[in-house]
Amino acid sequence: MKKLLALTVLTASLSLSQTPDLSGVWRANLQKSKRMGPPVITYLVIIEQKNAVFNNRTKEEALQITETTGTWGQRGEERAVLSFFVNGKLKVGSYQGVPTEMTGAVEGNKVVVKAEVAGRPSNFTRTYELSADGKTLTMDEEGSNEGHPLHNTIILEKQDDAAGEPLRKPEELAGAHFKNVKTDSLKGLPASEFLDTMHYFSWSLGKNCEFCHVQHKMDVDDKKEKPPPGPGGPQGPPPQQ
Ligand code: HEC
Repeated sequence: MKKLLALTVLTASLSLSQTPDLSGVWRANLQKSKRMGPPVITYLVIIEQKNAVFNNRTKEEALQITETTGTWGQRGEERAVLSFFVNGKLKVGSYQGVPTEMTGAVEGNKVVVKAEVAGRPSNFTRTYELSADGKTLTMDEEGSNEGHPLHNTIILEKQDDAAGEPLRKPEELAGAHFKNVKTDSLKGLPASEFLDTMHYFSWSLGKNCEFCHVQHKMDVDDKKEKPPPGPGGPQGPPPQQ
């Protein structure tokens, strides 16, 4: 009897420390979710969980979670990828093209990732909680975006694998997705990687997007700080049609 009890306690504590399986295709129930930013019609997520090399020098491996998010709204399709290790250790990765310190850990039945953008007042903590039946995943995000408070609660519902198709398709290229991209090398980037480049511009200058862009009108060339395209500039802004 005592042995059985010990075994029960042991397996219970083992299963407590196990990482919940978040993998699969998820779609947000937007009615139940609270989301900042422009409204979207569809919010789709694919989560993958697998072991990967955490430390290149020691070849130490750890569980890695990769969350690919796609939203469809007024601005068309927008994608973002967040990838982190779940071993409680800090690692500098890249999020939206910018160096970001990330620490992922299992806390009880939740997966928690804390992210901090190097040298900027931007950070977030995302908490993922799986329902007992494994069909609902609540993603709560709290933090600061360039000093502005950030809070999202997304209620995700499990989908068949086939529902992930729109997110597995190659992404639209920047040249087609945006109105005014003239540089050939930038035209050929997937739209989200193009935006990563923009985030990197901002981050490396320590300025926000409005340093080069007119707010909400990213396609106009009205600001002198927006460098003209092509090598050997300055060529001045091209005529607007
Ligand atoms: C250092 C200046 C600079 C900063 C800062 C900057 N951009 Fe840009 N952005 C550009 C230039 C230059 C282009 C045009 C590139 C081209 O024509 O090839 C551009 C183009 C764009 C476009 C395409 C516009 C369209 O609709 O056709 C978008 C979208 C964009 N930027 C978003 C952003 C966002 C979001 C940020 C902030 C995270 C940002 N940019 C920060 C210089 C900047």
